[in-house]
Amino acid sequence: MKDYINPDFKHMVHGGDYNPDQWLDYPEVLSEDMRLMKLSHCNEMTLGIFAWSALEPEEGKFNFEWMDKVMDDIHKAGGKVVLATPSGAKPAWMAQKYVETLRVNDRGERYWYGERHNHCYTSPIYREKVKLINQKLAERYKDHPALIGWHLSNEYGGECYCDLCKEAFRGWLKKKYGSIKNLNGQWWNAFWSHTFNGFDQINPPSPLGENHVHGLKLDWKRFVSEQTADFVKHEYDSVKSITPNIPVTANLMGFYQGLNYRDIVKVIDYVSWDNYPNWVNTDHDINVAQYSAMCHDLMRSLNCRPFYLMESTPSHVNWKPYNKLKRPKVHMLSSLQAVAHGSDSVQYFQWRKSRGSFEKFHGAVVDHVGNEHTRVFKDVTAVGERLEKLDEVVGTVVRPKVALMYDWDNQWAIDMAGGFQLNDKKISQTNCQYYNAFWSKGVDIDIIGADSHDFNDYKVIFAPMRYMVSDALGEKLKSFVKNGGTLVCTYMTGMVNENDLCHLGGWPGAGLREVFGIWNEEIDTLNPGESNTVKLKDGTVVKAVDYCELIHSEGAEVLAEYDSDFYKGMPAYTVNRYGEGKAYYIAFRDDGSFTKQMINDILDEVGVSSEFDGALKKGVTAHSRTDGENTYVFLENYTPDDFETETGILWTEVDTGKTLTGKFTLSGYGTLILKK
Ligand code: GLA
Ligand code: ZN
Repeated sequence: MKDYINPDFKHMVHGGDYNPDQWLDYPEVLSEDMRLMKLSHCNEMTLGIFAWSALEPEEGKFNFEWMDKVMDDIHKAGGKVVLATPSGAKPAWMAQKYVETLRVNDRGERYWYGERHNHCYTSPIYREKVKLINQKLAERYKDHPALIGWHLSNEYGGECYCDLCKEAFRGWLKKKYGSIKNLNGQWWNAFWSHTFNGFDQINPPSPLGENHVHGLKLDWKRFVSEQTADFVKHEYDSVKSITPNIPVTANLMGFYQGLNYRDIVKVIDYVSWDNYPNWVNTDHDINVAQYSAMCHDLMRSLNCRPFYLMESTPSHVNWKPYNKLKRPKVHMLSSLQAVAHGSDSVQYFQWRKSRGSFEKFHGAVVDHVGNEHTRVFKDVTAVGERLEKLDEVVGTVVRPKVALMYDWDNQWAIDMAGGFQLNDKKISQTNCQYYNAFWSKGVDIDIIGADSHDFNDYKVIFAPMRYMVSDALGEKLKSFVKNGGTLVCTYMTGMVNENDLCHLGGWPGAGLREVFGIWNEEIDTLNPGESNTVKLKDGTVVKAVDYCELIHSEGAEVLAEYDSDFYKGMPAYTVNRYGEGKAYYIAFRDDGSFTKQMINDILDEVGVSSEFDGALKKGVTAHSRTDGENTYVFLENYTPDDFETETGILWTEVDTGKTLTGKFTLSGYGTLILKK
């Protein structure tokens, strides 16, 4: 049951962004690159990401000779190529001649030529030019033995407010709502006299115009996401029609808020993403590791397949306020973390440090000194040597029994809502609090969406701050619980529908009141520094912060009550049996300790545990992949100290083939890859 990204290349990919177009005047550097590639145990180069002006220096005049040579040289050196389409940055001639390809900001100002990721994704001329260059690349290299994948553009994102995009938005709205009357109703436009007579009166949200109609703001974000996906599809089709067997990806950015990645994943073959955690080598590294792990899980769960870690830095970046070096051992650990969560690659930005311009001091495999005698080069080589021993892990999948629910539009809607804690509802922090409990136990987890996943694949679903619940999602959750699933929700559940209209008739709406057996009458937002207390059945008292909902049981068993303020004695934590399953409701936010305990208890109750049977400690975790028969467990230690633990299972160490059981030591910042 293996799932290969490219069945013709069953090895871990190790390589990264390669920009020979910056070095065409330095042929000795380019040939040295090939020697160093082999030496570093890299087997891949991601080529041509920002190479448009080198490929088409003047309109309609193409120059592929340099790329022919690079492709051939990489092949001769035993490497493979993930070939990029160059649409992430356009040549100056295009901006000069076709002004419509330049973006317009939300104040209606057209940008000058410059930077990257600066094109209008609606512009027919841009689309035509992209299609042409993409097809030329595909035609030229379709049979090249080095080609193993496509990399569309680079980190799609951003918005354009030009007239073409405005028109497209109006068309999108018309398709969605049918009539202007329906739109007025769904956006609640009688408010502030905003009733429209026609779609042509509608503009995107702007500081110069409307910025408070939630329906409009939400639909604009959805439109931007779908319009971008439409552009991605345009690129996808242009290469796929010529190279049907070469898998296509776009490099994503974790929890980036500008796009709903579930739109993008529909139009690509495999997921890849760029990860730049803030490793600083203090205690804080544990939080960094947890956040990075959560991002890997989010990215993998987009289609529940193996993915590529398309970019990471072998040492440091250049765009953080403090660009600290990765400490010894951290590069190996962070690289294997990606693999533990389902990556079939470790790739870097970038192969060789640029000589000039903005990224000349960004970490890279090859430094300005230009040879292999650097600490970073050796770190990279060590990763390459280790990845070469992991062929059997390639194509294995992650199949958790637990899911955390996360949807981009749910977060957008919460973030824009008036009320509560106005400026920071802390949804990201809440997700981390939940995620960290699973991570600490070494329990694998998927991060799933309301529409995109089959809930019946999971025993338990945690859906903190699930503010937006459509009737369809309400039904889906209801039948999940009815059929025996365990659902855990919190304060703010089911307040609005998919258009951000409040559910009438009592929260949680969309039929969930019955599932939880509670009614949420009010929500109290506490001031910073304030807290309340909650008393559990066994007498334990925990702290409530930020939010306390005033809920009534309508049949649910009360597991904890508020212990102070005027709502003392009201339920704070409940469970309701519904059909064959159970629905837990947590009416308050806590400082983390209650969440952790609650998650531990619920996982015990449903019988979900780590694939590793031994003890873990703070900062040490376990993650697993499987081919259906063998389970591969990655034991990861994010502390500097050696850790002694014990297992009752007879494992094989994948790197060495040696068996392992009983007591053993996991070294500080070490990773062990075990098979059972
Ligand atoms: C992004 C881009 C790369 C590079 C890196 C630097 O991920 O995709 O081109 O600029 O950032 O960290
Ligand atoms: Zn535009």
